[in-house]
Amino acid sequence: MKLKIETGPDNPILRKKSVKIAKFDKKLKKFLREMAEIMLAKDGVGLAAPQVGVNERAVILNLKIAPKKWQTVALVNPEILDASLELICAEEGCLSLPKIWGEVERFENVTLKFWDENGTPRILELEGINARAAQHEIDHLDGILFIDRAKKVREDK
Ligand code: CO
Repeated sequence: MKLKIETGPDNPILRKKSVKIAKFDKKLKKFLREMAEIMLAKDGVGLAAPQVGVNERAVILNLKIAPKKWQTVALVNPEILDASLELICAEEGCLSLPKIWGEVERFENVTLKFWDENGTPRILELEGINARAAQHEIDHLDGILFIDRAKKVREDK
């Protein structure tokens, strides 16, 4: 399968609520690997399955783990279990909304529950830019785009 990025604020695929993944098989692993490849190729900090035309609950994050070091992680059926009281406003963009940026308020820290590609349940605590990316990508699974939450949107023609 050759993946391509779905774009546009009114794209029905991006606006649909995605379904939970029930089968952890070779096909899922291959799909997650291809998602990671396209995310890295496009310099994204995260990618959600609907962005490549698949309305299933899978997300890839490119976590920043050191000043110049990133690590890719695949999240299946991710949920936010807990979030900090602190909200942080910062600028976001999205591979599905090229040339649009917006100031979005997000929780500073989140605790996630998800399943890894083998179907093992996991817990992950994230902060800062990583927590922001997770919230942005999980929104995609519910058909929510950052422009829906943005306080200020900027468009480069
Ligand atoms: Co996005």
